Amino acid sequence: MLKSRIDKSTGFEKRFENAGTVVYENSIEASKAVAKEIADLIKVKQAQKQPCILGLATGSSPKGLYAELVRLHKEEGLSFKNVVSFNLDEYYPMEPDSINSYVRFMKELLFDQVDILPENYHIPDGTLSKEDIADYCSQYEAKIKAFGGIDLQILGIGGNGHIGFNESGALQNSKTRLVALDHITRVAASNDFSGLNNTPRTAITLGVKAIMEAKRVILLAWGERKSNIIKASVEGEVTNRVPASYLQEHNNATFVLDKAAASKLTRINTPWLVEKIDWTDELIRKAVLGLALHLKKPILMLTDADYIENGMSDLLADSGPAYDINIKIFNKLQNTITGWPGGKPNADDSKRPERAEPAKKRVLIFSPHPDDDIISMGGTFKRLQEQGHEVHVGYQTSGNIAVADDEALRFASFVCDYNDKFGIKSEEAEAIYKKAVAFLKNKKASEVDIKEVRYIKGLIRRGEAQSTCYFVGVPDNQIHFMELPFYETGTIEKKPLGEKDVKITMDLIEKIKPHQIYAAGDLADPHGTHKVCLDAIFEAAKRLKPKKFMKDCWIWLYRGAWQEWGIDEIEMAVPMGPDQVLEKRKGIFKHQSQKDGVVFQGSDSREFWQRAEDRNRETAELYDQLGLSHYAAMEAFVRWKY
Ligand code: F6R
Repeated sequence: MLKSRIDKSTGFEKRFENAGTVVYENSIEASKAVAKEIADLIKVKQAQKQPCILGLATGSSPKGLYAELVRLHKEEGLSFKNVVSFNLDEYYPMEPDSINSYVRFMKELLFDQVDILPENYHIPDGTLSKEDIADYCSQYEAKIKAFGGIDLQILGIGGNGHIGFNESGALQNSKTRLVALDHITRVAASNDFSGLNNTPRTAITLGVKAIMEAKRVILLAWGERKSNIIKASVEGEVTNRVPASYLQEHNNATFVLDKAAASKLTRINTPWLVEKIDWTDELIRKAVLGLALHLKKPILMLTDADYIENGMSDLLADSGPAYDINIKIFNKLQNTITGWPGGKPNADDSKRPERAEPAKKRVLIFSPHPDDDIISMGGTFKRLQEQGHEVHVGYQTSGNIAVADDEALRFASFVCDYNDKFGIKSEEAEAIYKKAVAFLKNKKASEVDIKEVRYIKGLIRRGEAQSTCYFVGVPDNQIHFMELPFYETGTIEKKPLGEKDVKITMDLIEKIKPHQIYAAGDLADPHGTHKVCLDAIFEAAKRLKPKKFMKDCWIWLYRGAWQEWGIDEIEMAVPMGPDQVLEKRKGIFKHQSQKDGVVFQGSDSREFWQRAEDRNRETAELYDQLGLSHYAAMEAFVRWKY
């Protein structure tokens, strides 16, 4: 069994964590460990000639686990003949062969690939009539009981703390039933259903009571976006607002986490509050900045008493008094601020984030989607250009799935009208337009666009990216559309990173031989386009490392998704005045297809330019709160050393 961090008999770390947690380097290792525990259990039950009763979940979290179980079956002969499984939930209504049904998910990812007997797996039936659901649910629970209960239950966790589809508010003794889905849950699922309107409003879920009766429970959570809810579930009070917190009262439940999902746990985020630690420079910085922000004091106003009262007296004893530590951290933070992201020519650069030489640098900005460059680092982008560097942009993917259907039609019809107006023979254009109209008229939710529509959508985004580049001043020959193949599936689900993706990335780096690379550093996102794009760059950089030009190539990571780097992580902060903020806004506006009700809005109703402005303003406010200069906005970067 996975060794969990909390030992209930000694109460170690019980001050903070009230449930067992195990943290792995990444979700792949974690999934392997969980698969091993399941495999061991199946084998023990086989030896006892007993069935092994598994409770299974769907969603993105268990995908790696199922892949490993399939591998164990195919390569190591693990048999599932004695496995009886009960899935947690199913959307309602839902046809089993629908692309989004959990029946289909389970068959494709696990059941059809192992030797489980078809009569042995159970998934709530999404095709029942409403009147029949209550009886069906009682029978579902009765069947589990008849098998002697669930031996091992796998769970994921929703952003609101749901387990199964027991949303916030579900009671601890809730039964298996039809439930209404939370808005947050529907938003999370809406990508798969091509928009919120097509996303089911209800589901059948195993109740909390049945989950709590499982003999062993393992909850899987990956990625930074789960970190807050994990902290609330494990360290917070047991409350129906966070159903996963009920697991604190289970006597054999473990939260299996990757580093990112665990990152907000007290012992990881502020380890000095939990045990004696070795104070590295990074930890000192993190602790002091955290202390100042917590006490709402500028760094230089922190006192010895502040350190002592907040669990940092050993740091004070080692490196104090407070005044000395404060000054050190203040200077460090001040040195991160620069209006010269490409380095300041003829200046002493010993304390600056970037080198002064060469004064004119070749810069390559990688943008995973066509608008990440301007959204995430538009101010820096413009400055680099204005300060005379040779700025290139590599648009890694076409971004073609994030364009609304009517936009595609509008552009196709524009081409026909344009041809018509200028007397250009336009039969082919007409044919493409008609084909697109016919397809889109009957397009079903989550149906993949035909090739022509995908091209049109890609072209729209390409034009918008070009327009941003012209706005910034980047010439055509420095704009590179990479169209990495992993992205081109036409669906949300992408292919894994492939050799071709790495090769295209290497070729561009080699061609430009940049002194600076900027990349979207969404390290924690276990799925997602940004992470694959980043992996392509990391892999390319690793392979190119022996080349001479790479010795001069520094890689700066900006945060592409909606979160910013932690204040203690930032190594370069590029400030902006109010006018520069407005300029950046104009640059973002070039992406018209991404304005006003975009295809993938997510749970945040702000438009992209608003999100970008809020985030850059918040970073500047943090610097201000800590006692440094007050700017209108700041873009933040971390250097990746390879
Ligand atoms: C799925 C289920 C849900 C998911 C949860 C997390 O069967 O019951 O509770 O486990 O929504 O989903 P992912 O893993 O996609 O983040």
